[in-house]
Amino acid sequence: MNEYDSNKMKDLLSKEMGFIDTDTKEEADILIVNTCSIREKAQEKVFSLLGKWRKLKIKNPDLVIGVAGCVASQESNEISSRAPYVDMVIGPQTIHRLPSLYKKSLDSKKTIVDVEFPLIEKFDNLPSTSESKFSEFVTIMEGCSKYCSYCVVPYTRGTEVSRPVKDIIQEINNLVKNGTKEIVLLGQNVNAYSYEDEKGNFINFGLLLFYISRNKDIKRIRYTTSHPNNFDDQTYLAYKKIPQLVSHLHLPVQSGSDKILAAMKRGYTVLEYKSVIRKLKEARPDITFSSDFIIGFPGETEEDFLKTIELIKEIDYDQSYSFIYSKRPGTPAASLSDNISMKVKKDRLSFLQETINTLSKNKSKNILGKQVEVLVEGTSSKYSNMVLGRTKNNKVINIPGSKDMIGKILKIEITELNNKSLKGELLVN
Ligand code: 5AD
Ligand code: SF4
Repeated sequence: MNEYDSNKMKDLLSKEMGFIDTDTKEEADILIVNTCSIREKAQEKVFSLLGKWRKLKIKNPDLVIGVAGCVASQESNEISSRAPYVDMVIGPQTIHRLPSLYKKSLDSKKTIVDVEFPLIEKFDNLPSTSESKFSEFVTIMEGCSKYCSYCVVPYTRGTEVSRPVKDIIQEINNLVKNGTKEIVLLGQNVNAYSYEDEKGNFINFGLLLFYISRNKDIKRIRYTTSHPNNFDDQTYLAYKKIPQLVSHLHLPVQSGSDKILAAMKRGYTVLEYKSVIRKLKEARPDITFSSDFIIGFPGETEEDFLKTIELIKEIDYDQSYSFIYSKRPGTPAASLSDNISMKVKKDRLSFLQETINTLSKNKSKNILGKQVEVLVEGTSSKYSNMVLGRTKNNKVINIPGSKDMIGKILKIEITELNNKSLKGELLVN
């Protein structure tokens, strides 16, 4: 989501405000940092970066400094007091107001702060992408109403708000007309999507997938992130009926212990999570999964942790994003005592990561020698004369070839496994 917002701010700066991109910050007239406050480390980095930018402002007093994103939303007061040289503080839902905030900041000596949540106004006021890339993000909803006990997102991005179906379809059709082959639907909880159209019909996430897939020029549809509690029957059906929907799903579980899941207020048990996985596998037998995990949540015992490992083996995840629990001010979990030592947390984190790497390697070994379809995404950054393709299960394969293969779906044979990366050879049909 931050990547999407940063690109949109870049578009506003270049298309509507007349700025030109530079790689040299000493040369810049405006510097904006887009921030994340999901964990403490990310937040502290913002203040250390601002300290460096302050020196640039001393040399060039006309330099305009902006802080955007979730740290801006959560810490607007602290930013204006700790770093008063910051000119603009822009929340994640007000980035479209960048041109007017910039003008205001030029006329004011004080930090201009706008961290409101003005519902869906943002999307109606952002420039459309003029140059479509192979793969494009399309935001379908924003915010989160789940209030997991450890998480700041509902407070920084606001509650769940869905975009109108016709705006989403129009944006996607325009991108595809300009050459985009893969659409990645974005939102904090994409499958909480819910929109009432003019006729009073409710459109849920599954139905939205069917509407989007009608455009047959879309080769692949991905989405991130979904919540286990929001899967509807239409979404299961979508996995049966929509060939463009990929066979890989990022479905965060966070922990494999019911006790910890309850303390996290995730709203499901391990059995309920597994039931969602079972239904998805019924609909799409070759589907693979990745997940987010939080390690060392207050009260997590060795037994709880081992339950997470057990679940990992059972689901056979092939990728994980795992994080040591970070206490976030203002969240309910912040009042729980953080009773696990950093050493234990770090040991658990590396054990979990090793477990998943082994599973992922085994899966790669299993596809060695097999024939698979890949969608070619671009040239390989690692090998010259190679392109990079992705299977429907999200495995990245390097294939000898050239730029003209980009955007095509090709049949290849997997020929080599090097550490984590796979190589393949094009099969002539
Ligand atoms: N500490 C550690 N990890 C967190 N996440 C969210 N909040 C926290 C926190 N306080 C992780 C969750 C979520 C991912 C985006 O970030 O795993 O799925
Ligand atoms: Fe945070 Fe939970 Fe919402 Fe995900 S579902 S954004 S972890 S509150």
